[in-house]
Amino acid sequence: MKAPHSILMVSPDYYDIVDEKNIHMSGQSDKVNLEIAKKQWHDLHDIYLQLTIEKVLNRVNVIEGIPGCEDMVFAANQSIPFIDSSGNRKVIISRMKHSSRQREIPAFEAYYSSCGYELIYPPQGIVVEGMGDLLSVPGADIWLAGYGQRTQYEALEWLKDILPGEMIPIALNNPYFYHLDTCMIPVNKHTLLYCREAFDISGINRISQIFEHLVAIPIEEARDGFALNAHLVVGENRNVAVIQKGNDQTISAMKDLNIDVIQTDTSEFMRSGGSVFCMKMMVYE
Ligand code: ARG
Repeated sequence: MKAPHSILMVSPDYYDIVDEKNIHMSGQSDKVNLEIAKKQWHDLHDIYLQLTIEKVLNRVNVIEGIPGCEDMVFAANQSIPFIDSSGNRKVIISRMKHSSRQREIPAFEAYYSSCGYELIYPPQGIVVEGMGDLLSVPGADIWLAGYGQRTQYEALEWLKDILPGEMIPIALNNPYFYHLDTCMIPVNKHTLLYCREAFDISGINRISQIFEHLVAIPIEEARDGFALNAHLVVGENRNVAVIQKGNDQTISAMKDLNIDVIQTDTSEFMRSGGSVFCMKMMVYE
């Protein structure tokens, strides 16, 4: 599977917390400081720009946020870009669980159409939430696919015939870990960082069949610090993780795995249930 090397972000101008789509958002609706949020977004954007200068990434693209689309800044959810077996760029357009997030979709359709992707739509009524629930394993033709809280199991049955590579479904039932990108980071085909409490025994068994080296991250860092929502950027000669600051045990586990770590602050976005991984999409430019 060819990995994408460019970033797509959505500008944070209309970011807000309006309703409670996940448990992290509970009691947060009047707490967002938009000025701080914008600064944190720009800091992350600058980190990605620096990684393009260092040739770890190719480009950073930005879609403008839209009034009334308060969650649109979480660019990980609206799409699944991929390259098919003949080398064509395609994208699965998500169907979001919440109707307010479905309003974000046309802007992504426009972006991918303008880049020349072929757009593919899920069957009627089936919820798919993009890369929030679909993680590729670097160096292996494997997708780890979360289901049960946002993306539906039926969606994975449909997706497995479209996406190249093997699909491993993993049930999510702990409300703090509502998307798969909140509770695991596949580092390579041998190693997975994960939070034990996010999974039931069947999930743990699935994970253990694939990865021989499981690194357990404490729930305090995964749940409260969004440590496993770090973004592992796999470059040609270097792996770099961009992570919410202060997750000391996760950071030291990453360093042990030879990953360069960049810490940043996404606290205003964590109020909405997302951190670094949620705030970008990896695209084929
Ligand atoms: N408030 C957003 C929601 O509940 C957060 C999305 C976070 N994205 C992610 N990939 N985990 O939909």
